[in-house]
Amino acid sequence: MNFFFERKGSIFAKRTLLVRLKTTHSMNILVLGSGGREHAFAWKLTQSPLCTKLFVAPGNAGTAQIAQNVAIDPNDFPTIKQFVLENTIEMVVVGPEDPLVNGIYDFFKKEPSLQSIPVIGPSKVGAQLEGSKEFAKQFLVKNNIPTAKYMSFTAENVQEGYLFLETLQPPYVLKADGLAAGKGVVILNEIEAAKAELKSMLVDAKFGAASTKVVIEEFLDGIELSCFVLTDGKTYTVLPTAKDYKRIGEGDKGLNTGGMGAISPVPFATKEFMQKIEERIVVPTINGLKKEDIEYKGFIFIGLIKVGDDPFVIEYNVRMGDPETEVVLPRIKSDMVALFQAVASESLASFTVELDTRTAATVMLVAGGYPEAYEKGAVINGTESVHDSIVFHAGTTIKNGQIVSNGGRVLAVTSFGDDLHEATKKSYQNIEKINFDKMYYRKDIGFDL
Ligand code: AMP
Ligand code: GLY
Repeated sequence: MNFFFERKGSIFAKRTLLVRLKTTHSMNILVLGSGGREHAFAWKLTQSPLCTKLFVAPGNAGTAQIAQNVAIDPNDFPTIKQFVLENTIEMVVVGPEDPLVNGIYDFFKKEPSLQSIPVIGPSKVGAQLEGSKEFAKQFLVKNNIPTAKYMSFTAENVQEGYLFLETLQPPYVLKADGLAAGKGVVILNEIEAAKAELKSMLVDAKFGAASTKVVIEEFLDGIELSCFVLTDGKTYTVLPTAKDYKRIGEGDKGLNTGGMGAISPVPFATKEFMQKIEERIVVPTINGLKKEDIEYKGFIFIGLIKVGDDPFVIEYNVRMGDPETEVVLPRIKSDMVALFQAVASESLASFTVELDTRTAATVMLVAGGYPEAYEKGAVINGTESVHDSIVFHAGTTIKNGQIVSNGGRVLAVTSFGDDLHEATKKSYQNIEKINFDKMYYRKDIGFDL
């Protein structure tokens, strides 16, 4: 198709026409990933009359109920290419960060047979906002976006790193530059422990190549929230805010996890506060991407901390959050395929995203032992008895015809309510009906608010 248009010459006009035609028809879609986030995407996309057939690679037991799972690794681009062509896939939605950081967007753009198929997610350079803490910090500073003061170090100047630590007040925040499966941020109270950690990251390669560089930054004291933005590269739409509960234990104690629950909207994200976020953070982020010609058609997940009355960026992610997606997507009333088509065709400016004003809450059911060692293969019972909540599968699979656990985070139970209390109450009532061996969950999601 592209070859034909290029031969005829007026590439631009024909491409625009092609894009317009594409925005109106139903299509086969491929979602990459296997967690609760991807089940939520699948749940939302399959509600659209514009979705003919949905595939999820590799998916889980939940996605298998509403879509077709395909055993492909999201980072195996040649196999994805073959599958996309053989199954006339016309849109690829990328759940996790690693295929984006590895350049799946650019891979599609470079392949003549794939370049007309939209990939929802940023280019490889854009994905550096998550793939490199230093890149993100430089981007923030260049664009005057409020963030913690920082310096970055390598093994060569580790001594300077020690000196920099001495100029800071505790606690000390050390961040491995690259992707470290969510474990690359270490916060320590003692200066000697911070120095030892810096040495371990830089000199002893604690996080492998991810900690070849380390960002040390000022500790920001405040309450966290996440802001989700969808951009078509020209304009943006701000999606519902969410707050996740990262620690394993109640009262936000214990080890960090991928997330034990989430709520949306965030009660303290008032209209005035959201306006500050938009003006000081979202707009300069989008403008910064444009200024640097960074192709970006996808989600920007902005991790924020509210210090006093002001928002500061603690991190960018280039994808949706998990479990935040399990509360954000249910609150989007608009057709998700149409929304993604608007992103792909750069017509987001004329798309109004309709939101459900109710509160959504999700509670994660995890395997006992998580986030440390845990067992897989526990038979999951009771999900069919759940009423008035949505059960999103995270780490599940089907074994001998039964749904069994297949990861640390197993299920996310999402409910709506007129307020936080009602939403969480419904989830907790339904959780009573679900069980698997050594099931654990936090009983205080949303209670701090
Ligand atoms: P990240 O992986 O960048 O999300 O960081 C993990 C967690 O570390 C964040 O969710 C915050 O709770 C915390 N954190 C990161 N940077 C800072 C900072 N500068 N000040 C205080 N807490 C931070
Ligand atoms: N829940 C945090 C994340 O998805 O990064």
